[in-house]
Amino acid sequence: MASHASSYTPGSALEKWLDDRLPIIRWSKEHLMDYPTPKNLNYWWTGGAILALMLAVQIVTGIVLAMHYAPNVALAFDSVEHIRRDVNGGRIIQAVHAVGASMFFAAVYMHIFRGLYYGSYKAPREVLWILGVLIFALMMATAFMGYVLPWGQMSFWAAQVITNILGAVPVVGDPILLLLRGGFTVDNATLNRFFSLHYLLPFVIAAVVALHIWALHVPGNNNPIGVEVKASRDTVPFHPYYTMKDAFAIVVFLIPFAWFVFFAPDILGHPDNYIQANSQVTPAHIVPEWYFLPFYAILRAIDFNVLFIDSKLGGVIAFAGSILILFFVPWLDSSKVRSGNFRPMFKWFYWLFVANFVFLAYLGAAPAEGIYVLLAKIATAYYFIYFLVVLPLLGRIESPRPLPASISEAVLSKSH
Ligand code: HEM
Repeated sequence: MASHASSYTPGSALEKWLDDRLPIIRWSKEHLMDYPTPKNLNYWWTGGAILALMLAVQIVTGIVLAMHYAPNVALAFDSVEHIRRDVNGGRIIQAVHAVGASMFFAAVYMHIFRGLYYGSYKAPREVLWILGVLIFALMMATAFMGYVLPWGQMSFWAAQVITNILGAVPVVGDPILLLLRGGFTVDNATLNRFFSLHYLLPFVIAAVVALHIWALHVPGNNNPIGVEVKASRDTVPFHPYYTMKDAFAIVVFLIPFAWFVFFAPDILGHPDNYIQANSQVTPAHIVPEWYFLPFYAILRAIDFNVLFIDSKLGGVIAFAGSILILFFVPWLDSSKVRSGNFRPMFKWFYWLFVANFVFLAYLGAAPAEGIYVLLAKIATAYYFIYFLVVLPLLGRIESPRPLPASISEAVLSKSH
């Protein structure tokens, strides 16, 4: 689909000269303007553009913050305060970066759940999906290290708790822990490492995003009905149709983003993080940022030993497994039909999965005691059952609704 004849003819001698040496204008025209895109994409398909914008926003604001931030345990906390109070525009730049992390994750969750509903991970888009999961893992690492940089109480204790779990991994755990912390405790060396890696990883993400989009442009987009493009009448050029749709979605997305930045810039952060890190005072509850809560609940859900695996290692395995399993989704789902729209039974299990994920987030914020412990185990079990039992079996037993013959047919039948 993407391999169509180029419509580009250089408009001037200079363009022709450049085209013979570096066909970048030709490439842009083919991939950003004329790129044939299914004509039935809904607003869930604007998530990628929003994410690309968010990556750029985080990189640009981060670079400015790094000009004023001091990665040293004696100075870090005050340097963030200095950015917020003294640096010109610093209050806004810091708020955009901090709120931006939350908005980035909100967008990535919508993007992932869109893919899970419409079966966008299915052949021939497995590599596209795998690169997406890799991006997600890198985003988690980047956000975790970024949160440590202000060196508040939550920064310090989150670093303590999360790096500690590595120690549960047999053989390689301790050496990796030592390497990551740069010593036996979370201290100045840790902060330096995290700052360095927090600056580096977004550029690694940008590189993987380039591969992600490359892997998208080979098979072309999936679409809400999951029926592949069959003829050119099923598509429209990316520009102006989807550039406009993406631009509109970005404006809508910027409204809550701006609301947080201008009216409640600190509401998403934990109040304890406005207290400087103190290794002698443990906060009453150590909770991660909201976007880590479902996975934090999974990590804590395993509080029992299984054979030679103690509960701590069990938690690490469940946590790592909850991300790793996403890589295998293309092969776990046995359904021949892609889109959830035509899968009546799938819909139930899918929406239960979404509700369960939100519930896991709630449990991640709740204290690990009483009924919450049991509920976290049940919710963690369903997280894995969805991938390991529901997706493999459902495709075999469910009778999907008949699919439209083509995208054009589906679009036309809607307008009657
Ligand atoms: C920085 C993060 C990311 C960026 C900038 C990004 C960018 C994009 C863009 C521009 C598209 C095409 C437009 C669209 O479908 O919305 C896309 C599609 C897609 N992305 Fe991502 N993405 C990111 C993260 C992820 C993650 C974490 C996953 C999955 C775990 C993922 C999976 C997919 C899939 C499966 C598609 C194909 C959609 C389809 O045609 O149905 N992406 N991405």
